[in-house]
Amino acid sequence: MTTKTIPGEPTRASMKTAIPGPRTEELRARHGRHQDARTVHVYQDAQKSLGNYLVDVDDNVMLDVYGHIAALPVGYNHPDLLAAWRSGRFDWAAGYRPALGIAPPREWVELVERTMMKIAPRGLTKLMTVTTGSEAVENAIKAAFVRHARVRRGGAAPSAEDLAACMNNAQASANALAIVSFEGSFHGRSLGSLSLTRSKAIHKLDFPAFPWPMVRFPDVKFPLAAHAAENRASEARSLEQLDATLKAGGGNIAAVIVEPIQGEGGDRHASPSFFREMRRITRAHDVALIADEVQTGGGATGTFWAHEAWGLDDPPDIVTFSKKMQLGGYYCTEEYAAPEPFRIFNTFLGDPIRGAQLEVIVEIMERDGLIAGARETGEVLVRELVGLAERHAGLLEGARGAGTFAAIDVKDAATQLRLLDALRQRGLEVGGSGTRSIRFRPALVFGPRHVAEAISILDDACKAL
Ligand SMILES: Cc1ncc(COP(=O)(O)O)c(C=O)c1O
Repeated sequence: MTTKTIPGEPTRASMKTAIPGPRTEELRARHGRHQDARTVHVYQDAQKSLGNYLVDVDDNVMLDVYGHIAALPVGYNHPDLLAAWRSGRFDWAAGYRPALGIAPPREWVELVERTMMKIAPRGLTKLMTVTTGSEAVENAIKAAFVRHARVRRGGAAPSAEDLAACMNNAQASANALAIVSFEGSFHGRSLGSLSLTRSKAIHKLDFPAFPWPMVRFPDVKFPLAAHAAENRASEARSLEQLDATLKAGGGNIAAVIVEPIQGEGGDRHASPSFFREMRRITRAHDVALIADEVQTGGGATGTFWAHEAWGLDDPPDIVTFSKKMQLGGYYCTEEYAAPEPFRIFNTFLGDPIRGAQLEVIVEIMERDGLIAGARETGEVLVRELVGLAERHAGLLEGARGAGTFAAIDVKDAATQLRLLDALRQRGLEVGGSGTRSIRFRPALVFGPRHVAEAISILDDACKAL
């Protein structure tokens, strides 16, 4: 097993109060006067938290398998990250926040060369950085539109009419363009990306949206071996619908965006052959394939990028990232790099200090073999979840995962909420996905002993339910 333990990490969760505890509620009342604090699980003691264990302000020590919504790469307060900070290694990025498109520090170029391009998905040589996942998607679809319009104009400059019409939001050729996304998907909450998001009404309610087409996502059932024929048929139906949608698009569809595993929408998986066929279809229609790896990227699925498991000869055109990568952005092929400057741009264009942290994180991942560790730990986790579902048949089903990016289902949303609460009361910080899944998004330092503890807490909570 390659995962290295973190010195001083608690040996197990230990609870002093119910969750949320009294100090959390006190802070929530103060905080809630100015910000919406209703979503907060607990207020955290940022300095006491270590490795896989979150410590809250009530001194509860919780095993964290949610990882700040899949955004915690090497656990809390990794000693090497703190040592790098204290050694002055981040000083170049700490004194001010630069506008990276105007006057970037020299060190940024070195960071891009040394780290950001080292981890780039195979075949993608261009990089755009921003800060969040929504912005990553927002700009990735702009890149697809820019490329689509360039091809449509045969490389000619935009007409005076186009330039005048776009200033009045009346550029008919551009307003007709669309991006296809899948039912159940989550691609962000900014107004463009939100039109691609299809997971929950509460995210979309009352916001204007583009009338872009949606294709059903395959309804793959687990265990795979027991449902092979129906899973294949379900994938084939989605691919047929995708092909028909692209045909009906009349040349106005610029891209298809897909998550390698639907992360918010209920941990829905599809097979590598489904994605290979999607690549073939998008290529045949000359439409960009965007792999949204905001949640799956960064190693937890057992490869740095989840789409590596698809076995593509022809890579996705664009791959978005954020979360475990600490800053947001996308990689793309030369073809999707904007031909003119300022087409895709903003003030910060990323965040050097997050990039500097990412460099240390990648060093830790490589030195400690954390991706292989996630693969190995994930096998143990899914095997244990399958066993747990057998012991709690009728309550749990559908154990599945890639690496430690794993989930299990209960029968409905009410049971999901009750189980999530029972787990937190027993010291497991965990999240839901979709309407009836419990999702695992631990840090890459989550090892077999943490699996054993998480499973024991789950077992106990299920018995109590
Ligand atoms: C696949 C995917 N895309 C985009 C986003 C949006 O990222 P952010 O919340 O950083 O804007 C998320 C967030 O959960 C996501 O899971």
